[in-house]
Amino acid sequence: MVAPKSQENEISRDRLAELLNEDLCREYQAIIAYVVRYDLDNENETIRNYRDRIPQCEALGEYAMAEQIREILVQEQDHQIDLATALGEEVPDVGSGPKGRALRKRR
Ligand SMILES: [Fe+2]
Repeated sequence: MVAPKSQENEISRDRLAELLNEDLCREYQAIIAYVVRYDLDNENETIRNYRDRIPQCEALGEYAMAEQIREILVQEQDHQIDLATALGEEVPDVGSGPKGRALRKRR
């Protein structure tokens, strides 16, 4: 049943405050999702880059540095999993960056 226009606009101050809080809550959720999305994109890029750095280090005989980067990579993958989980998404399979793929093809 549709209420007459005058009744539709009747609202208590408490109800208005409640509705405004709900509006604000939605805004915050959108901002948080946006920030988390941005962070996840950055983690994906970081992981792609570190995956490329490992063979680059090894190609230069920098095996200890490659091991250090592997440890950092494990941490970055944990961050990636946390962020994807927060967004309710599957963890993206980022593979390695285009430079890495190009380097391997040239060999
Ligand atoms: Fe990270």
